[in-house]
Amino acid sequence: MKDDVCIRDLEKDFGGFKAVNKLSLRVKHGEIYGLLGPNGAGKTTVIKILCGLLRPSSGEAYVLDTKVPDPRTASRIGYMPQELAMYRGLTVHENLAFYGEVFGLSKQQIDTREQALLKLIDLQDSRDTLVDQLSGGMQHRTSLACALLHEPQLLFLDEPTVGVDPDLRASFWQYFEELRDSGITILITTHYMDEARHCDRIGFMREGRLIAEGSPQELLELTHTDSLEDAFLSYSRTGGSA
Ligand SMILES: Nc1ncnc2c1ncn2[C@@H]1O[C@H](COP(=O)(O)OP(=O)(O)OP(=O)(O)O)[C@@H](O)[C@H]1O
Ligand SMILES: [Mg+2]
Repeated sequence: MKDDVCIRDLEKDFGGFKAVNKLSLRVKHGEIYGLLGPNGAGKTTVIKILCGLLRPSSGEAYVLDTKVPDPRTASRIGYMPQELAMYRGLTVHENLAFYGEVFGLSKQQIDTREQALLKLIDLQDSRDTLVDQLSGGMQHRTSLACALLHEPQLLFLDEPTVGVDPDLRASFWQYFEELRDSGITILITTHYMDEARHCDRIGFMREGRLIAEGSPQELLELTHTDSLEDAFLSYSRTGGSA
C-alpha cells in the first residue's frame, strides 16, 4: 500500500527550541491516522509543515508523492486548522463560496457540495448567519465544511471535534470513516482519547518525538491497559517503551 504522507527525520526549531525532533512517520493511503499527544507536543507544527505553511529546519516530508513545501499539493489536500481560518464578517454560505472559488469550483459544484456539507454539519438553518454570530462549536463545524468543499484526496484535521457536542462528534467520526472507506486518507489530531479508537493507527507524540505507534488494539495490548489514555500515560512514563 502506498504512503500518502512520508516524514523522515523531520525537525523544526523555533529559536533554540525543537518543536519537532527527528520525527519519522508514514500515513498509508486510505487510512485514518491519529496523532495524539499533550499540549505543545508538536502536532500542529507537523501538520503545518505538511500543508506547506512552515518550512522544516531539517529532514524531509512528502505529501502525495510531492516533497513539501510545494504549491501543487494545495488543491489535493484539505486542511482544517486548529485556529479557525474563516471570515468572521461573512456568512456560512459566503465562506463556503469563497473557498469554492479559491479551488476553482463552478457555482453549481459549490451549491451541490454546500447542500451536502450543511446537512453533515447540521447547519442548514444557519446558511445565511454571520460566522461571528455562531457558537464556537458551530464555527468548528463550518470550518470542517470549508476543508471538505473541494473533495480533497488527503485531509489534515487539527482537532476537528473540539467544542462539538457528543452526538455530532459521533456523526463526524462516522463521516470520517465513510471518507476513509471511499479512499480518502486522513491525518487527524484530537485530545479526546476515547474517540481515537476510530483511527486505524495512532502515533503518540511527546516533546516533538513519536514515542509509540500502532493500531488502537495493538497499543492497548502492548501496554496491558483498556483505555488509550492509560496507554499514552504508560508510554509517557517510560519515554517510549511499553
Ligand atoms: N511560531 C512559533 N514560534 C515559537 N514557538 C512555537 C511556534 N509555534 C509553535 N511553537 C512551540 O512549539 C511547540 C509545539 O507547538 P504545537 O502547536 O505544534 O503543539 P501541539 O501538539 O499542536 O499542541 P496543542 O495540543 O496545544 O495544540 C510548543 O511549545 C509551541 O509553543
Ligand atoms: Mg495543536
